[in-house]
Amino acid sequence: MTFNILIADSLNDEGIKPLREASDIHIVEQTNLSRDQLQDIIPSFQALIVRSQTHVTREVIEKATNLKIIGRAGVGVDNIDVAAATEKGIIVVNAPNGNTNSAAEHTMAMLMALSRKIPQAYHALKNKQWDRKRYIGVEVKNKTLGIIGLGRIGTEVAYRASGQRMNILAYDPYLTKEKAAKMGIEYGSLEDVLRKSDFITVHIPLLNETKHLLNRNAFKKMKAGVQIINCARGGIIDEDALFDAIKNKTVAGAALDVFEEEPFLNHRLLELPEVIATPHLGASTIEAQENVAIDVSQDILRFINGELVRNPVNLPSLDKERIRKVEPYFSLAEKLGEFLIYLTDETVEDVSIEYAGNMIKNEVSPISRKIIKGMLARHLGTHVNEINALYLADKRGIHIHERKTSTKKGFSNLITVEMKTKSATRSVSGTLLDGLGPRIVSVDQYSVDVDPQGHIIVIHHTDQPGVIGKMGSLLAKHHVNIATMQVDRLDIGGDAIMLLKVDKHVEKDVLRELVTLEEIHHVRAIDL
Ligand code: NAD
Ligand code: MLT
Repeated sequence: MTFNILIADSLNDEGIKPLREASDIHIVEQTNLSRDQLQDIIPSFQALIVRSQTHVTREVIEKATNLKIIGRAGVGVDNIDVAAATEKGIIVVNAPNGNTNSAAEHTMAMLMALSRKIPQAYHALKNKQWDRKRYIGVEVKNKTLGIIGLGRIGTEVAYRASGQRMNILAYDPYLTKEKAAKMGIEYGSLEDVLRKSDFITVHIPLLNETKHLLNRNAFKKMKAGVQIINCARGGIIDEDALFDAIKNKTVAGAALDVFEEEPFLNHRLLELPEVIATPHLGASTIEAQENVAIDVSQDILRFINGELVRNPVNLPSLDKERIRKVEPYFSLAEKLGEFLIYLTDETVEDVSIEYAGNMIKNEVSPISRKIIKGMLARHLGTHVNEINALYLADKRGIHIHERKTSTKKGFSNLITVEMKTKSATRSVSGTLLDGLGPRIVSVDQYSVDVDPQGHIIVIHHTDQPGVIGKMGSLLAKHHVNIATMQVDRLDIGGDAIMLLKVDKHVEKDVLRELVTLEEIHHVRAIDL
């Protein structure tokens, strides 16, 4: 089957070579699409690749009936409705590392241009004005650079600005005093950064909490004459408040690469001589564009080949080594979820997943997603996947608990899934046997040994002589052949369980006939 990819923003050609060279991939490059045009054509595509220009809204995602993956050739995903994609089970990947260097270099270029008024002086000279007095700048050496957000780019800026002998004062909720000391920078609160800095640069994502982080109130706290740089995202700075802060001389200058509305062409900020600006060029280098296009193309290829992607935005990101350790449990996990859900017709309220044995050293959340996917798939079919499984469970009011125990349970690894409904608690445990693959080793309190695939009948009965014979004859009458059989009981003559592997799907009327046998209380047919 051909995998259709829409590239909706211009991408580096060399970077998308891996996709062009792959077989069964059809690429359509159509940039500058209007909202309506994008919504019209999106149903034909399995993958969509964008930079920051195209807005992948909930409306687009709702129309995208075949879309499986959205690739963002860059870091910020604020132009993609990630929640809507997650709900629809569409994976979103980005390219978080490819443009870090370029964005940091652009920030430094803006810092130097701002402090020395280079764009203004250049503009004047081009207009045949030789004015050396008007364009007197300030040195950055020994000045305090306040960095808000010390992630990938913020950190690179800190190292570069230290090279300019600036004092670095940084605020990031994940920065500790110890880490700051190790980096040779000063750790501060947001308040410290606002009050003490000569230059302030922001390197944070645009989120609800960071929208207008630099607002009127924040400008009021700043030193008179502070200079501001934003090479992160428009919207982090309240542009009207910045305008007023420049007018009232709190802010001596601002260097802006990003804006609340892009393209940013007619704003009054652009008319102020204190403002220098570039049209969202932070990542616009040959190197960064090639890097991000390669990263996103490779993740889309991994996805098409059924491999785990490297840079998921709406899935926990695990490195190759950590994934390698848990991947063998995926099939077992999904089968345990599928098996368990067949044991009830009631609404599931609570699912507890317990991991025991050697596997507890690993990151188990991807295994839990597989279990929940398996459980929900019975009613939701192919619509559920690893991406939306937790969201869909939460929407249905199912509480999920995950725990690890160091208690040895007789297996080198053991996964137990317990499900609570209004009237019962049911459980299933499974293990991965070396060289033999997945096995179900207990159902409720009974021990069994069943390969979780094919057609399985689960029978709860009373342990009495002759019951197995009666059940066998009844199945034979309906041409149901038993391949393997497991029986366990609590006490002699007490409650017991039978797990039969049979060669075909067992119809409901056969199951109904089975429960007419007086020793049989409950029957389920499971197709794995
Ligand atoms: P990152 O995720 O590595 O770092 C972001 C940091 O911000 C994190 O350390 C996080 O803890 C911190 N943070 C979050 N909320 C905060 C808050 N309220 N106060 C202080 N810190 C906070 O991201 P990155 O790769 O460094 O990118 C940073 C920003 O730069 C993003 O918005 C990205 O979209 C943007 N960007 C812009 C360009 C451009 O072309 N101008 C290029 C690349 C990246
Ligand atoms: C990003 O978030 O990566 C930047 O905005 C770069 C871009 O896509 O232009």
